[in-house]
Amino acid sequence: MTEVQDNEVTDSIESVEDIKLAAISALETSETSEQLESWRVEFLGRKGRLTALLRGLGSLEIEDRKVVGAAANRLRGELEQLFEERITRSKSSQAPVGSIDITLPGRKPAHGGLHPSTQMIREITQAFNEMGFQTVEGPEVELEKYNFDMLNIPADHPARDQWDTIWIDSETRSDVLLRTHTSPMQARVMEANDPPIRVVVPGKCYRYESTDATHEWHFNQVEGLAVDEGITFADLKGTLYEFARRIFGPSRKVRFRCDFFPFVEPGVDMSIDWNGRWIEILGAGMVHPKVLENAGYDSSKYTGFAFGMGPERISMLRNEITDIRHFFSNDLRFLTQF
Ligand code: PHE
Repeated sequence: MTEVQDNEVTDSIESVEDIKLAAISALETSETSEQLESWRVEFLGRKGRLTALLRGLGSLEIEDRKVVGAAANRLRGELEQLFEERITRSKSSQAPVGSIDITLPGRKPAHGGLHPSTQMIREITQAFNEMGFQTVEGPEVELEKYNFDMLNIPADHPARDQWDTIWIDSETRSDVLLRTHTSPMQARVMEANDPPIRVVVPGKCYRYESTDATHEWHFNQVEGLAVDEGITFADLKGTLYEFARRIFGPSRKVRFRCDFFPFVEPGVDMSIDWNGRWIEILGAGMVHPKVLENAGYDSSKYTGFAFGMGPERISMLRNEITDIRHFFSNDLRFLTQF
């Protein structure tokens, strides 16, 4: 045996020993089935380290080949056995069924809820539904005609300043806007229906306004309209009084005062008694004869009343919310309280 060959034999036998050490320590840290499989491929696979070693034996003397070959094959047998044992061990330690602790409390799934504005709108409209009003909805992108003109607010009317308007940029027309109140639905409902009419109209409104704790540039309103022969101011008062009792409790005091809106005559606002203070919650009045006529109604035959209120404002009162902007900031710490 030459010296070179001798070294080759020693090297190869050391390689068997190296592979054994590496394999045993790698097997100990293999936990998952993926890790175990890649261990098998690395050490026992057809392209694995042991196979490579055996393939390299060709360059050795026949005697040496026998020695190293035998050592390598022994190692293969050992590693196969260790692998089997390791697999059995990992299977029994996973044992998923027996390890479930059925006494642990379950994880509560997160669930959504109705937005506080929606809840308030539903409560308000339901109160009126029970008094015979039907709920209808209208467009948020509205024409100047319905938002203003048909409501007795012509283009040069100073009252337009009361509703700072967000106009829609359009190349084809200049009379499109985001409705500043739900009142345009008074005109639309009358235009499309004959009396008697009793509707409530909930929906989103928009104003070109800077925001603060009591003002938002977008908010909801609930409009109301009743038109028939013989409707009087007493009907308006009775209906709104009943509404206040349903929403704020049976002993709630209300107060009506004169107010001005171009589409009603006379116009009022209604306040409720809140811990000894009068808080204004809505505007109302008898439908202006011009508004009836604009919609094609005979104002000598028909009369009606209308009202409009802000559900966010009412919710703020009832829930002691101090900033209207909470409603639209999508903060879950606020929303999940409702
Ligand atoms: N539309 C009025 C507003 O936005 C409220 C209102 C409605 C007043 C109906 C009278 C009658 O302020």
